Amino acid sequence: MTDAIVSRYADLAGDARAMAMMCAALHRLGQFADAVALGRAAIAQAPQSMEVRTIVRRALSRGVASFHGAMLGDAARSHAYVRAIDRLVRPGMTVLEIGAGSGLLAMAAARAGATVVACEQSPVIAAMADRIVAANGLSDRVRIVAKRSDALQLGIDLAAPVDLLIHEIFGESLFNEGVEAALADAQTRLLRPGAIVLPPRAEIRCALATLTLPAHPPIATVEGFDLSDFNLLLPPTPRNVVAGRRGFALCSAPASALAMDYRGPAPFGPRREGLTFESTGGRIDAVVQWLRLDFGDGEILESDPTLPPPASSWIAPLFELPTPIDTAPGDRIAVSLFHDGHDLSIDVAAA
Ligand SMILES: C[S@@+](CC[C@H](N)C(=O)[O-])C[C@H]1O[C@@H](n2cnc3c(N)ncnc32)[C@H](O)[C@@H]1O
Repeated sequence: MTDAIVSRYADLAGDARAMAMMCAALHRLGQFADAVALGRAAIAQAPQSMEVRTIVRRALSRGVASFHGAMLGDAARSHAYVRAIDRLVRPGMTVLEIGAGSGLLAMAAARAGATVVACEQSPVIAAMADRIVAANGLSDRVRIVAKRSDALQLGIDLAAPVDLLIHEIFGESLFNEGVEAALADAQTRLLRPGAIVLPPRAEIRCALATLTLPAHPPIATVEGFDLSDFNLLLPPTPRNVVAGRRGFALCSAPASALAMDYRGPAPFGPRREGLTFESTGGRIDAVVQWLRLDFGDGEILESDPTLPPPASSWIAPLFELPTPIDTAPGDRIAVSLFHDGHDLSIDVAAA
């Protein structure tokens, strides 16, 4: 065991399973940096042991959202952010990142010459980001703060309001990872006037869709018992499709709605918007929805589920109609979108 933290547990040296168990215990106690270091050392000691790997990863992954793997494998997402960072960050700038994750974007900003504070609400992710930043030789330029952005304090976590904000806290329905509240707070407290916000703009894209795979039937009668009320306990968009998988076909051209501009104080855009789609014909089962991030200077990232692979790591939710609508080409369908700062709702009516 070489790591300074790991040397505290020197009596476990040579026993990878005991180290893995101690990693899990430290995680339970909230000692995340030690848990990460010890877990890493346990796997290094017994790289072929599936048991050690399982104990460590089961412990360390607890509470970590499962999207991180797909997200870090999404090269289009990383390239779009890093290209924008390389274009806009100047040496000497101060940068705040909300939601450090692995530390990727904070390190990109540091590589471009900035001094970065990156906050992360998950303590185990923050501990890991700290380790990754150190391993990449950037600890003098990137400080990971294990806090939610709304708990950051000027004079303690940040010396002064920053020149540039990086944020990637977009859920698949734009709002549902808390971007509105976090940026509203950051704009009032943590950014200098005129600070650059990356990305500055984002919006919803959506289109009418017909389902090409059989829809999961609603719960009805099972073994002679009426269980239909249980449908109310299922999520409202149960037919989430992984972007790029062809479980649907578009029945209209896509359109944009709820365009958000994060460069000033909240509100960043409308709460409600109506669109009228012209059907290309056929049965309308759902509205498919995805994201469009605009980094400026023509740099766009869209999680368009109809694009050829590789698919975006953001899934494209399908908002199913209670009853499908049969349409002829040219029929007009009114779609209204509404968000409450966190969740997106969509409603449909024949126009
Ligand atoms: C979608 S991931 C992006 C990670 C990283 N920025 C990247 O692009 O690879 C968002 C991360 O932000 C964290 N997060 C979300 N809202 C936050 C907030 N208000 N303050 C601090 N961390 C937040 C989540 O825990 C998650 O790790």
